[in-house]
Amino acid sequence: MSLLAAVLPWSAAQGSGTLKEYVLRRADDFRMIPAAAMKALEIGRNPACSVAEYAAAIERDHRLTIDLLGMANSSLFARGAPATSLNDAVRRLGMRRCHALILSTCTAGLMRSLPFEHAEVREALWRHGYLTAVVCRHLNETLRLGFSGEEFTAGLLHDLGRSLLAATVPSRFSAVESDTDEPGADILDREREALGTDHCELGTAFAVRNGLPASLIAVIQHHHRPHEAKELQKLVAVVAIADHMANRIENCPAPEADEEPDNPFISFLAESDRVRAALDDVTPTMANEALIEAQRLIA
Ligand SMILES: [Fe+2]
Ligand SMILES: [Fe+2]
Repeated sequence: MSLLAAVLPWSAAQGSGTLKEYVLRRADDFRMIPAAAMKALEIGRNPACSVAEYAAAIERDHRLTIDLLGMANSSLFARGAPATSLNDAVRRLGMRRCHALILSTCTAGLMRSLPFEHAEVREALWRHGYLTAVVCRHLNETLRLGFSGEEFTAGLLHDLGRSLLAATVPSRFSAVESDTDEPGADILDREREALGTDHCELGTAFAVRNGLPASLIAVIQHHHRPHEAKELQKLVAVVAIADHMANRIENCPAPEADEEPDNPFISFLAESDRVRAALDDVTPTMANEALIEAQRLIA
């Protein structure tokens, strides 16, 4: 048993059941996808749905409308003249990208509403999510992987379980995250030993309860073990690579240009030498750009 597990045994002081049940019970107070957003996502799945119908469904939620227009006009997605109406934004971005943006804005809403004890924890988790998302987008564009925004949402959301832990059991979350007794130990193993669950399992259970799409659930569940993702492995692999790069960028913001990439997840995506070479080329440049962009997004 690690020192952490001995210091912080789970007791039923906060209620009956396991820590996982306790966290999920607390998290039930936070709906991730508001009713209007859920309706818009449903309508958007119908290939015959018009831009006007889709935009009208989104407009029922004032906050969602503001967030979506803001995203459409942000440096991430803005192309040409600003989108001044939702119809403009939907037409410009396309339904698939809008779908991803709705889920991104819902993630932002959830992060705003979770009761973090310390602002710096919220900011660190938020920065890590955005950084991973920005790196996902760079990978998608550079390697022409064919995603339309879902890679950004997946990056933003991948560590949902860590946010749930930080908001509901903050002292245990901090203790696990700062536990350096076993350097190099897998974070999921550390969490399971100390908490009886891990952030992937918690995030997955929350995502299922909130009706998130299967692709995002797969990312939340498997981003530390992409080989376990039977389907949707390409999206999971992109996020796993980006997550690893984001951690590296956060720990070492200015990597040497000739530094050898040691990303263990590249092999899940690198079906050819061309892809691997492209990834090697973009790594050092991407680090600085991504960090600056992520910092701008959370500002
Ligand atoms: Fe994670
Ligand atoms: Fe992560």
